[in-house]
Amino acid sequence: MPLWTVEGGHRLSGNISVQGSKNAVLPIMAACLLNGGETVLENCPSLLDVDASAQILQHLGCEVSRQEDKAVINSANMDKSHIPHELMLKMRSSVMYLGAILARTGEVTLSRPGGCELGTRPIDLHLSALRQLGAEVSEISGNVHCKADRLRGAYINLDFPSVGATENTMLAACAAEGETIITNAAREPEIVDLQNFLVKSGAKISGAGTSKIIISGFEAQKSVSHKVMSDRIVASTYLCAVAACGGDVLVKSVDPASVSTVTSALREMGCSIIAGKDWIRIRRNSRLKSGRPIITRPYPGFPTDAQSPLMAASLMADGTSVFVENIFENRYRAADELRRLGADIRTEGRVAMVSGVEKLCGAKLSATDLRGGAAVLIGAMSAEGKSEIFDEGHIERGYEDFDSALGSLGAVITKE
Ligand code: EPZ
Repeated sequence: MPLWTVEGGHRLSGNISVQGSKNAVLPIMAACLLNGGETVLENCPSLLDVDASAQILQHLGCEVSRQEDKAVINSANMDKSHIPHELMLKMRSSVMYLGAILARTGEVTLSRPGGCELGTRPIDLHLSALRQLGAEVSEISGNVHCKADRLRGAYINLDFPSVGATENTMLAACAAEGETIITNAAREPEIVDLQNFLVKSGAKISGAGTSKIIISGFEAQKSVSHKVMSDRIVASTYLCAVAACGGDVLVKSVDPASVSTVTSALREMGCSIIAGKDWIRIRRNSRLKSGRPIITRPYPGFPTDAQSPLMAASLMADGTSVFVENIFENRYRAADELRRLGADIRTEGRVAMVSGVEKLCGAKLSATDLRGGAAVLIGAMSAEGKSEIFDEGHIERGYEDFDSALGSLGAVITKE
């Protein structure tokens, strides 16, 4: 389990390229089951969650090979349709294999994914959509079993624009006879990347990025290659790190439109930000000030995954910064750790209020979850003195080579 040691107080400068997106590559890896052929993924990040997904594919009988930022997946010899509990435990979001395995084999069994640090993480919307496509869904002693002799296209309205439920429905609908229309679909950029991959795999699908997605058939292409989009949350995290520490950094390989809610919040706090087609330059020289309340919402609203890193950037901002977390019920766990640095944070249900302090002091800290861990790192980087962060592997689930990436910008971080 890594121990991160940080010497705070260093401004950041230079340039950094953003890794491939965790939340795009994970559903795309599951979607590789559909074509029964070979897929070459470029810009595939080296992350614990990607390793966990590769293990699931190999368990199912697929060949997976990795070479730097390339992953080659061959699902021709898939010979299983269940995922054992120990593999489900490694990554909660393996629930997106439900739709992919059901589409490929007509049957799937996996252990119900547990909650996580962020909350209960139910899957009722996933299961309801699969039932509407004609699957029989049963739950026996913690296992979810879905079976469908044939899937039939349906009109599916999601009660909430769930990212995972949208992705699972898209995957299962590829095998359905007739047309499927998903309304109130999630609009995240990762959904668009999944659609782009599915089109290359032979799906007739359109509408991703809007609330209405239409799927009307699938003719497997046995050889597919795809470059995964860049990670907008990692890009947001770098931007928040510069805001917190001060400095001048060019963030490359990012679509500025995908992080516009984050950059507008940082501009309002006093950062100077300019952007081009695939890059953002951020400068912060004077003390930040609190901006308008940060209210997390489904895309294109402010992303919940960027809330903790932005909170870390607000700890010494002049004034009181207000956060309202509407997506997950337990997304303020990092607040306790940030208080150890001397932060003044009050949380009440979904609301957090951060009163800016003059300085933060290094401390012994813990990474509470993936994005909370990144926030604690950012807090430590902006504090005076040394901090140690005990981490059970949360940060490496989503941030590739985070210590060397931040170190290349001038942060003094070691991981052992
Ligand atoms: C995806 O999780 C992302 N994970 C999350 O990123 C991200 O925070 C989240 O979308 C929101 O953008 C991946 O893509 C692998 P949801 P997901 O279904 O699909 C409720 C990170 O840090 N809900 O949109 O699980 C749920 O409880 C991770 O990279 C139901 O009630 O998110 C939550 O309150 C964290 N029933 C809300 O919807 C369901 O059946 C949003 O969940 C499904 C979800």
